[in-house]
Amino acid sequence: MSSGPGEAGPGSGAGLPPLHLRPTMLSDLDFVNGVERDPANLPFITPWERTQHESAVRFPDFRHFIINAGSEGGGRDGFVILQGCRSPHQSVELKRLVLQPKGRGLGRQCVRLLKRMAFRDLGAHRFWLDVKSLNTRALALYASEGFVEEGRLRESVRVGGDHATGYDSLVVMSLLDREYQARVALGLEAV
Ligand SMILES: CC(C)(COP(=O)(O)OP(=O)(O)OC[C@H]1O[C@@H](n2cnc3c(N)ncnc32)[C@H](O)[C@@H]1OP(=O)(O)O)[C@@H](O)C(=O)NCCC(=O)NCCS
Repeated sequence: MSSGPGEAGPGSGAGLPPLHLRPTMLSDLDFVNGVERDPANLPFITPWERTQHESAVRFPDFRHFIINAGSEGGGRDGFVILQGCRSPHQSVELKRLVLQPKGRGLGRQCVRLLKRMAFRDLGAHRFWLDVKSLNTRALALYASEGFVEEGRLRESVRVGGDHATGYDSLVVMSLLDREYQARVALGLEAV
């Protein structure tokens, strides 16, 4: 039995409750801004202004979701943004993924759900992302979920905020539809 577009089905996270995505509403944006500015997340992302999130909520090329990891009362455990959902090149970007409960397997569960959404529901040919090279947790997660490193944008983001002098590189990673289908055939994906 397959699951709906915003729901992780059986096999996508052993022992974890189902993970749900629902469209972000404007009333969620205080939560989203708070999560982005949480010191636990700030080193790994470049926070957006509220108006950028508002645009992403409204513009059809984006999908902006609140993640509920099975907590009571439809709680908010993080958010995710996809871009390129109307791309004529069928190249969908995982623009942002932030989970507040960390290290419990929710990231893996969510990435599997997003891959399925990209390839099955959005008809992606390519699902890609960039990640800071210092973000070893996310890098390990994406690599173990089949994303292939394409290259590095050298010293393209500042480390430690506006007054810092150091730079980090962005690692560009992608998964192609045929690579995803091969993983499905091997039983490595949520279906
Ligand atoms: C990155 C993020 C989404 C991962 O979600 P998570 O729920 O914490 O990750 P998981 O518990 O599913 O762990 C996935 C894998 O990460 C790896 N991992 C976890 N912590 C790690 C660490 N400190 N260093 C290296 N690898 C690590 C493990 O290989 C783990 O796989 P396992 O199942 O074999 O143990 C989440 O930590 C997060 O929101 N971080 C802050 C924002 C961010 O970095 N977003 C991504 C930007 S590209």
